[in-house]
Amino acid sequence: KIEPNLRPRSLNEYIGQEKIRTNLKVYIEAAKARGESLDHVLFYGPPGLGKTTLSGIIANEMGVNMKVTSGPAIEKPGEMAAILNNLQEGDVLFVDEIHRLNRQVEEVLYPAMEDFAIDIMLGKESAARSIRLDLPKFTLVGATTRAGLLTAPLRDRFGVVQKLEFYTPEELKIIVSRSAEVLGVEIEEEGAAEIAKRSRGTPRLANRLLKRVRDFAQVKYHGVITKEVADFALDILDVDKFGLDYNDRAILTTVIEKFAGGPVGLDTLAAALGEDAGTLEDVYEPYLLMNGFLNRTSRGRVATERAYGHLGIPMEP
Ligand code: ADE
Repeated sequence: KIEPNLRPRSLNEYIGQEKIRTNLKVYIEAAKARGESLDHVLFYGPPGLGKTTLSGIIANEMGVNMKVTSGPAIEKPGEMAAILNNLQEGDVLFVDEIHRLNRQVEEVLYPAMEDFAIDIMLGKESAARSIRLDLPKFTLVGATTRAGLLTAPLRDRFGVVQKLEFYTPEELKIIVSRSAEVLGVEIEEEGAAEIAKRSRGTPRLANRLLKRVRDFAQVKYHGVITKEVADFALDILDVDKFGLDYNDRAILTTVIEKFAGGPVGLDTLAAALGEDAGTLEDVYEPYLLMNGFLNRTSRGRVATERAYGHLGIPMEP
């Protein structure tokens, strides 16, 4: 028995990211009416907000197949050329972590995206020449945590560039309720609201927490997800009332206790945490910044009054 897929398959089923949804509807309808493939799309933003899901929806709405790969998975230009050459007319090629493509691989993409062609080098030195191989028309959907990590020539070749935002607790509540229905588990409004509130604005996390709360509901609470079982399970899972997890709290505690609340530079803070600076900046910081737990200043990161209050640490005068 396989677990049901929680990803929405169409834009109408998709909750949140209103601007992206509205825009994509127009671009998809227009491309279909012209009988063309959709222009290349770049999604950027923190992990878990729906970049892969939206790519799948694009393929589904365009009535084509999606091939999935990632920046680190493609090591040689020939591998990229082979992937492109094997696409069917109109297909979506989803490249996750596209900022991690190496330079030579990336260069295969330039003519592929612009002219639907690849240049293949034959022979060596004075006998070297290249032949152009035509590709099927396709849509490249790239995903990255930060658009600024892409080289300019790659970024400029995307016709559509969309930033994914964190979801509101209201949106997450609808997502959690929908997912519970797909999973066939009964959930009370307050139970869904509690999971939503503690999911740091991220559907992937909301769905993961929902599955764990369901386990507790099943074993200890007659199978229904109430606020009580949600609270009980989420406390055990160590996500607090603001959805901050162990890592989020470690970041704030480190800024406060090791750096007197800041300012502390990103690299220094990352080293103190034993964390990669890029991961800290792209994965952990955005939620802390958006929710006013952390500030970015020209001299470094600063813990806010709200962070002190939330962690119960008195602010030194
Ligand atoms: N499941 C995960 N993300 C979702 C979304 N944005 N809308 C509906 N269901 C989802």
